[in-house]
Amino acid sequence: MSLDVRGVRREFALLERELGGRPLAYLDAASTAPRPRAVLAAIRAYHEHFTANVHRGVHALAAEASDAFEDARHVVAAHIGASAAELVFTSGTTEAVNLVADALRLRPDDEVLSTCVEHHSNLLPWRRHARVCVLPSLADGRPDLGELARCCTPRTRVLAVHHASNVLGSIAPVRQLSAFARSRGLLTFVDGAQAAGHLPIDVRVLDCDFYAFSGHKVGGPSGIGALYLRQGAQDALDAPRVGGGMVARVEANGCEWKSGVQRFEAGTPNVEGALGLAAALRFLRAQGARAIELHGRGLSRQLLEGCRRLPGVRVLGPTSADERIPLVALALPSSGVDAETVARTLSDAFGVLVSAGRHCAHPLHDQLGVEATLRASAWIHNDEDDIERFLDALAGLLA
Ligand code: ALA
Repeated sequence: MSLDVRGVRREFALLERELGGRPLAYLDAASTAPRPRAVLAAIRAYHEHFTANVHRGVHALAAEASDAFEDARHVVAAHIGASAAELVFTSGTTEAVNLVADALRLRPDDEVLSTCVEHHSNLLPWRRHARVCVLPSLADGRPDLGELARCCTPRTRVLAVHHASNVLGSIAPVRQLSAFARSRGLLTFVDGAQAAGHLPIDVRVLDCDFYAFSGHKVGGPSGIGALYLRQGAQDALDAPRVGGGMVARVEANGCEWKSGVQRFEAGTPNVEGALGLAAALRFLRAQGARAIELHGRGLSRQLLEGCRRLPGVRVLGPTSADERIPLVALALPSSGVDAETVARTLSDAFGVLVSAGRHCAHPLHDQLGVEATLRASAWIHNDEDDIERFLDALAGLLA
C-alpha cells in the first residue's frame, strides 16, 4: 500500500502555517521533523490526566504513569525489532553515543573504527576515550568494505558507523559491517538518527550491539531518544551515570545497582518525552514501514533528478535513489551566493525550509573540499509539490 500523503499532511498542524504568504514546504526533517498531532495529544494527556513520577510512587497516578512509560518502552523497542529489556531511554542520539563510549571501559590505545562520514556526535564521544581510525569510503561516500580487514588491528574494539548519512543521504551496508565486526570480536555501534524515520529497522537482522536514534527526527519530542543495548553486550558496560532510579539498595558504604536497562537511566526520566516518542512511532506504524520507505525513495528520485539539472550544482552522495534516504546536500557553484544566504532566501521569499552549513560533519566537508552545503531533507509529510517548489525556487536563485 502506498502512503496516503494527503491524509498524513493533515496530521501535521505545522503545515497550516504560512511564511511570506506561502504554505510551508518543510524540507528540513533531517534537522528536526514536524510532529504529528498524536504526539501533541500524548504529551498533553500526560500533563492533564496522570502527571506523576515513574518507578518511585505508589499512588494511582504513579502507577498509571509507570505503566504508560513501560508501555512506551515496548513500542519504541518494537520499532527497531528489539525487546523492552534492551531499550534505554536517552535524551537523544548524542547522549546514547556518549553513554556507550563512557560505559565501555575503553583504554586510550584502544581503537574505534569509524568513517569520515560520521556526524560529530558519532565521532567526538569516541575520541575522548580511544583512537578513532577511519575506514576509507567509496567515491560516493559509502564505506569501502574491501578496506575493513586492512583497517582492523588487534587494538580495534568497536566499529562505530552511521546507518544513514545526514549529508550524503547514503545508507551504509550495516549488515555487512556488523558481520565483519562479529567475525573479529568487535562491538558494533550504529548511529540510526537519520535512518529511524525512513527505513524498516530490525536490530536482530542488522546484528549490531548498539543502535541509537532520536525522538525529534521521527516526529517525537526533542530531548528523548532510544538506545538499543543487545542483551549479551550489557554486562560489558559500566553505568556511566549514577543516582536515583538506577539503584536497588543503598547502604552507608555501598550500593546494589538495579539489573537491566534501568541501570542506565539515573534520575527522573523524560516521561512525557517517552510517551510522545511512542505516539510518534505508533503513528509511523499506522502508515506502514514499507510505504514510508517507498514514499521516501520516490522523493529521493525526484530530488536527485531535479538537482542534477541545476547548472553548476554538485549533488553529493550515491547517484541511485535506492541507496539513499530522501535527503540531498548540494555544493553550490563557487561563483554564486553562499549556501546560508540561499537557504534564508528560500525560506523568506518562497516558504521553503532547508538547511545550510556543515551539518555537524566538518571532517566530511573537509574531505569533500566543500565549505558548506545546502541540504533538503524530506519525510512523510512532503509531497512532490514541495520538492518542485524547492527546485524551482533554487533554479531561479542560481540563474
Ligand atoms: N544532526 C542534525 C542535522 O544533521 C541536527 O541537521
